[in-house]
Amino acid sequence: MIFELTEEHLAVRQAAREFAQKELLPGVIERDEHAKFPTEQVKKMAELGFMGMMVDPKYGGGGMDAVSYVLAMEEIAKVDASAAVVMSVNNSLVCFGLEKYGSEEQKQKYLVPLAKGEKIGAFCLSEPEAGSDATQQHTTAVDMGDYYLLNGTKNWITNGNSASTYLVMAQTNPEKKHKGINCLIVEKGMEGFVVGKKEDKMGIRASDTHSLMFTDVKVPKANRIGEDGFGFAFAMNTLNGGRIGIASQALGIAQGAYELSLKYSKERKSFGKPISEHQAIAFKLADMATKIEAARLLCLQAARMRDLGHDIALQGAMAKLYASTVAMEVATEAVQVHGGYGYVREFHVERMMRDAKITQIYEGTSEIQKIVISRHVLK
Ligand code: CAA
Repeated sequence: MIFELTEEHLAVRQAAREFAQKELLPGVIERDEHAKFPTEQVKKMAELGFMGMMVDPKYGGGGMDAVSYVLAMEEIAKVDASAAVVMSVNNSLVCFGLEKYGSEEQKQKYLVPLAKGEKIGAFCLSEPEAGSDATQQHTTAVDMGDYYLLNGTKNWITNGNSASTYLVMAQTNPEKKHKGINCLIVEKGMEGFVVGKKEDKMGIRASDTHSLMFTDVKVPKANRIGEDGFGFAFAMNTLNGGRIGIASQALGIAQGAYELSLKYSKERKSFGKPISEHQAIAFKLADMATKIEAARLLCLQAARMRDLGHDIALQGAMAKLYASTVAMEVATEAVQVHGGYGYVREFHVERMMRDAKITQIYEGTSEIQKIVISRHVLK
């Protein structure tokens, strides 16, 4: 397949590339080391329209297509995977979910500031005992008439503290199993809602990951997304698109690690010549380039299908499974190409190797992607 990018796509990619080099690269090592959220950088991403890229301009978004989103995500993640996940969750889980399934009132109240990047959103599905097995929600939303009483704990929530708007999945009718789950929009500051401890993570350290506690939080009925019991379908359909975001993040990490390896291998000499001229290194670069190209095509294909309105459950899962595997392989090889220098902070690739790992875990582990894919192919 030859993938033709339009002038607009190329302009978006160039804008993201320049932004990443100018605004994200300086300080990326320090933000990782001190687990410091990229507050100023996210504000600038918002000014560029990157926090609500695909949202209709009438709701404050950029009105761009999913292909543009993949291109921008790759450029951002190439330099700073932490900033990329903040952007990914806001765009493809929170803004997408609200725009596609929210009421007009919810869109005006919550989507507009999120799409403009004035506020940040979080997607709250995972629980201490419900990660991959997402149907087993222990958080409860008891129907009290004109409000829900929300109780429970959420874990591993990206943007857990930096967010102001939280999409929280909770069980209302346990006898209906997953069809009893609702998605509620919860605001930071609602009584009984406490942001818990920040996780001290291996990678994507500059993004904030928290547990969240809800104790008798009164959430208005008007904050339920869709019909009663729509929450699990909401989560699954939203995650299908979200996986394109994480696939593109993984692609960006791989591309970043590859570009650094290419540069280093031409500069570093051993046995009298640049190491790129040793076949052992040249073959590694060839493998990296080939895998990245295949991952990029899967990401772009899933995005294009989404733009054309197709179901992307299969293609999103394939893109995420493959791109995250490639990110891990390429980042690991990048450390190998750099030798001892690859094992220290200032050369970036050690961070990329740590960052790559999470792409095989969140928004569905690689094993979950294989469940989704195998169910499709066996159907
Ligand atoms: N798209 C749409 N619908 C789907 C779906 C998909 N990909 N996968 C399942 N469904 C639907 C099924 O069609 C079924 O619907 P009906 O009952 O109407 O027929 C329903 O969901 C239940 O499906 P299953 O019977 O297949 O349920 P299961 O328990 O066997 O498997 C699962 C479900 C696919 C494993 C699901 O639990 C899952 O995807 N788990 C992973 C959860 C996940 O990705 N978590 C990430 C957290 S978010 C995050 O990480 C964000 C962040 O901070 C970065």
